[in-house]
Amino acid sequence: MKASIKLQKLPTQFFAALAQKVSATISEGRDIINLGQGNPDRPTPAHIIKALQSTAEDPQNHKYSPFQGIQELKEAAANFYKREYNVDIDPNTEVAILGGAKTGLVELPMAILNPGDYMLLPDPGYPDYLSGAMLGDVYYDTFPLIEDNDFLPDYKALSPEVKERAKLIYLNYPNNPTGGTADLSFFEETVAFAKENDIAVVHDFAYGALGFDGVQPVSFLQAEGAKEVGIEFYTLSKTYNMAGWRVGFAVGNKDIIAAINLIQDHLFCSLFPAVQHAAAAALNGDQSCVEEQRAIYESRRNVLIEEAHRIGWDVKAPKGSFFAWLKVPNGFTSEEFTNLLLEKANVAVASGNGFGEYGEGYVRVGLLVSEERMKEAIMRIEKLGLFKGEPASIL
Ligand SMILES: Cc1ncc(COP(=O)(O)O)c(C=O)c1O
Repeated sequence: MKASIKLQKLPTQFFAALAQKVSATISEGRDIINLGQGNPDRPTPAHIIKALQSTAEDPQNHKYSPFQGIQELKEAAANFYKREYNVDIDPNTEVAILGGAKTGLVELPMAILNPGDYMLLPDPGYPDYLSGAMLGDVYYDTFPLIEDNDFLPDYKALSPEVKERAKLIYLNYPNNPTGGTADLSFFEETVAFAKENDIAVVHDFAYGALGFDGVQPVSFLQAEGAKEVGIEFYTLSKTYNMAGWRVGFAVGNKDIIAAINLIQDHLFCSLFPAVQHAAAAALNGDQSCVEEQRAIYESRRNVLIEEAHRIGWDVKAPKGSFFAWLKVPNGFTSEEFTNLLLEKANVAVASGNGFGEYGEGYVRVGLLVSEERMKEAIMRIEKLGLFKGEPASIL
């Protein structure tokens, strides 16, 4: 038996291939500092684990969940948006519970587009967006995210043809992989662009809790009129170190939310109810764990950038997310530099070209190891003697 033609056309799962390569190296007994992946390294806060433990003991939670998730979690998502962003959300019509944002991102083209439609995707971008396009039988155009434009799209640069055929656009700030952030005026411009061209907007807010230098990331739904044109995906994976729990939600435009709920009625029976109760406890509970975690990433970022500058590596500090997007030294492609770091420095990073054509010339470094290991990684890279003579810019 062969996999279907559709599955054979799926792009290679970039992170799976990367993880395999790194674990093969580790199994050789080498001490690899893994900065290549996006897996939060610290545990879920204790009060959330306790909420899971107690709700897991209740036999009521051993049954099927209501198809579209438990009311308590939908209300918690709405309360969270009111408290954090002053955005009003109707828990009954404007929330869809997801088994992680990834599920929503991948199923959405299937839910609201038709075969042959076009969507617009960022380049570089989170690779799973491509999986969604492929599974939904839709085409996509890309828009570049470049440093000179603070890694934001330039809507004016899109051709009339591309604007005409696009039905949906994916955005993501704080951004994976570039670490770029967006402000309210950008989202207002996005709403105007969407209305003018009749394009639905999806904002992937996976790193919503992770803004640096005193700037809290803005929700797309804070822009006036956002709910008329789009939705936002939120996940508990990063905010509460719950990546393995697989829980997130979509909020916003009720027609898009209804389409997500409908496709999910056919694919899933929501999530383990105890996980949903614990997720509600996370969203409603004490948020000091979120600030603590954010501060840890910021401090690791500072160590990374200071150390990189010390060895003469001309890199810029990310403004949010838990990634740094670092220019490779002159004379290397992203892949050559990535391979060199793994082979000669025992440091794993993600090669920028895996995120799209405009990722060439960069590597992505996760802020997901301790400050000591981060320092050690740069010391190992320093020994390669690549950066002498390159001017370092200021943090
Ligand atoms: C940009 C982006 N969106 C979505 C996700 C997936 O999040 P979840 O764990 O909720 O599926 C990730 C995870 O790495 C991500 O980087």
